[in-house]
Amino acid sequence: MSAFPHPERYQQMQYRRSGRSGLKLPAISLGLWHNFGDSTRVDNSRELLRHAFDRGITHFDLANNYGPPPGSAESNFGRILREDFQGLRDELVISTKAGYTMWDGPYGDWGSRKYLISSLDQSLKRMGLEYVDIFYHHRPDPETPLEETMRALDQVVRQGKALYAAISNYPADKAAEAIAILRDLGTPCLIHQPRYSMFERTPEQGLLDVLGDNGVGCIAFSPLAGGVLTDRYLQGIPQDSRIASGSKFLNENQLTQEKMEKVRQLQAIAQQRGQKLAQMALSWVLRDARVTSVLIGASKTAQIDDAVEMLSQPVLSQDEIDAIHNILV
Ligand SMILES: NC(=O)c1ccc[n+]([C@@H]2O[C@H](COP(=O)([O-])OP(=O)(O)OC[C@H]3O[C@@H](n4cnc5c(N)ncnc54)[C@H](OP(=O)(O)O)[C@@H]3O)[C@@H](O)[C@H]2O)c1
Repeated sequence: MSAFPHPERYQQMQYRRSGRSGLKLPAISLGLWHNFGDSTRVDNSRELLRHAFDRGITHFDLANNYGPPPGSAESNFGRILREDFQGLRDELVISTKAGYTMWDGPYGDWGSRKYLISSLDQSLKRMGLEYVDIFYHHRPDPETPLEETMRALDQVVRQGKALYAAISNYPADKAAEAIAILRDLGTPCLIHQPRYSMFERTPEQGLLDVLGDNGVGCIAFSPLAGGVLTDRYLQGIPQDSRIASGSKFLNENQLTQEKMEKVRQLQAIAQQRGQKLAQMALSWVLRDARVTSVLIGASKTAQIDDAVEMLSQPVLSQDEIDAIHNILV
């Protein structure tokens, strides 16, 4: 086995500043939503994390509920950190979140101060960490006053349990409000984590402007639409794919004829460019300078390689972007 970590790990990756903050993130970040719970092989999870770090991916993204079962991705990640990443904590940016259902009763969900603060304490325990780098409110709560949720983020930063505060899945108007509250509290919002891909372009309708204007970063989740924006499903449904695993979030019915026709047309452009569709899909998200990082998932180390190798391929020309947009309409 070669030495870990790889001595040249910082040479291949690009690091992009998150908004107007002091923090740079790798252009490619790795999420632990799938493939890190108790139902997956821990040796594969370990291999993915080591490989990602060796290729310059310094940012790992978690949430309290990642698994299955909920919490198990954090526990498994904590174990791998202790066993394989000794002495490397200061080279890593680790995030977690609270906002979706985590435990029974009225205090294990949404956006109360009660939920956020106890959830972060539990996350730190599961991961065996003293602090996370980024703590997110995972989704807006229509009932809790936004001031209460943002004050909870401000408090955990002041307590040193998180270094930066962040939000996810907030629409443009709510994001603008949250950003203003955090700024007034003296804990600026570091980054927003929306879903953004060639198949999900809502952030272009105002959110990216709000982030750009306020100096807040953007980390785009599911930039490959869970694997649909790759060559994965062009010849049916492979046994080892997310759809075949019975995912609650991605199923065969979502592979409509219309969508797959677009995937085939996009694949043709990627081929003309001499790259894989997955690579073109990531390059497309990163074409906007307001996007700090693309947050991918991976079940195999080769998928991480595809993403990192994209960074040394040509960026998209305006003609290619126009051709892609003609397919997407
Ligand atoms: N804030 C939120 O609400 C939220 C919601 C969802 C996700 N997230 C974050 O975003 C992360 C990524 O989400 P995601 O997993 O949906 O992202 P994604 O990058 O859109 O999809 C990842 C999947 O695409 C396939 N894939 C990746 N690279 C490939 C390649 N080069 N060639 C072929 N297939 C490839 C793999 O599927 P197979 O498994 O089939 O190999 C992989 O598991 C999550 O882990 C989480 O951290 C956040």
